Amino acid sequence: MTEKKAQLTMDGIDEPIELPVYEGSTGPDVVDVRSLVAKGIFTYDPGFMSTASCDSAITYIDGSKGVLLYRGYPIEQLAEKSDFMECCYLLLNGKLPDSEEKATFIDNIKHHTMVHEQICNLFTSFPRHAHPMAVMIGAVGALSAFYHDDLKINNIEHRKAVAVRLIAKIPTLAAMTYKYSIGQPFMYPRNELSFSENFLHMMFATPCEEYVPNPVLADAMDKIFLLHADHEQNASTSTVRLAGSTGANPYACISSGITALWGPSHGGANEAVLTMLNEIGDISHIPDYIKRVKDKNDPVKLMGFGHRVYKNFDPRAHVLRDAAKNVMKEMGIENDPLLPIAKELERIALEDDYFIERNLYPNVDFYSGIILKAIGIPTNLFTVIFATGRTPGWVAHWHEMISNPFKIGRPRQLYTGPTQRDYPG
Ligand code: SDX
Repeated sequence: MTEKKAQLTMDGIDEPIELPVYEGSTGPDVVDVRSLVAKGIFTYDPGFMSTASCDSAITYIDGSKGVLLYRGYPIEQLAEKSDFMECCYLLLNGKLPDSEEKATFIDNIKHHTMVHEQICNLFTSFPRHAHPMAVMIGAVGALSAFYHDDLKINNIEHRKAVAVRLIAKIPTLAAMTYKYSIGQPFMYPRNELSFSENFLHMMFATPCEEYVPNPVLADAMDKIFLLHADHEQNASTSTVRLAGSTGANPYACISSGITALWGPSHGGANEAVLTMLNEIGDISHIPDYIKRVKDKNDPVKLMGFGHRVYKNFDPRAHVLRDAAKNVMKEMGIENDPLLPIAKELERIALEDDYFIERNLYPNVDFYSGIILKAIGIPTNLFTVIFATGRTPGWVAHWHEMISNPFKIGRPRQLYTGPTQRDYPG
């Protein structure tokens, strides 16, 4: 196949610069601009709107068609036919496991769910009212203190152990974060339970009585984790890759991903959606809120709407919208006062020119919060749940990068500051 080329002509450069163009297995071609630095030229793309930072075989999004593929499998099919553990294996290994591989993977995860007892002491250094994401950043980062000295990231078996430990331990730390905040004792993982049943157990069981996870809620929890598992080079995954590109401890790299996820423009949006719905309070208040959203001088946004890549619907939002109905029916809260507000906001956004012109559709965060609230997860823990689901994606991208030749990430800049000047005197 003839190699594709691009040509850059530029004032001040005599000859056009020829640049290689690469085709992916699907999606947009990319222009390789690496040779420009030798010619003293940088490209400029704040926010990386049209920049591919790497090549990856893990997840593909077609934002114009609302397509999301984990290793080629459509998210709708995985949500219907697969489960979170199987998707973790798929993201990490590039293929669906056979029954024996799946059983071995799950057994491996189950036998790494406990955390070092000394980590329990870490929690007591946080104020009880600390935001759970602040605690998670500390607790996950602290894992790097327990798994560092003999960790060789260039050894694939060590990398696989990192993946298993993080997928297994982050839910335990997430539940510990919640228990600490409400003054209840930590609940140890139960190996006879499934991943999601065990998470609900660690979250809501107490030593005082038998706790049987509700299968409908466990299924919804599993779907939430599965739908959040990966999303190509989003801000938190790019943070993990950039931190990992220095050779930093992978547990610390995942902690940096949790930090990036916390922001309300990213994973913090699910918490912000509930705050927004509660602030609106009643359908009659929606028109005034929409006026504020459209007002350029008002920073308020319609949280849970819009996306850097999806300029059509976010397929995850569709799956979650259906799952929300099941959970609310199971919990007998079909008339949750927030649901009609959410539905009316969605109706307006899908009909109003302001939102249509800007391709603002509900994203994964719009409905996830409604489900999490129905399950009984406190609002300030929503992004912790997102981080728990996204862990396999973060780890898969870290592993993919370290498994192949890579360079330390070091962007350049357009300098606009003072040129050289002498110190006075
Ligand atoms: C996630 O990247 C990923 O893949 C992320 C994620 C993942 O799985 O990892 O999908 C998870 O982070 C989902 C997004 C969650 N965030 C929110 O719901 C917060 C609200 N949404 C926005 O802040 C915004 O839509 C972003 C940050 C998600 C995307 O922003 P972009 O692509 O930079 O788009 P933009 O800010 O340039 O907006 C384009 C226009 C602007 O208006 P104009 O200046 O052109 O007039 O749309 C407007 C924006 O003001 N706009 C919104 C809006 N989002 C964009 N206006 C009102 N409400 C919104 N939510």
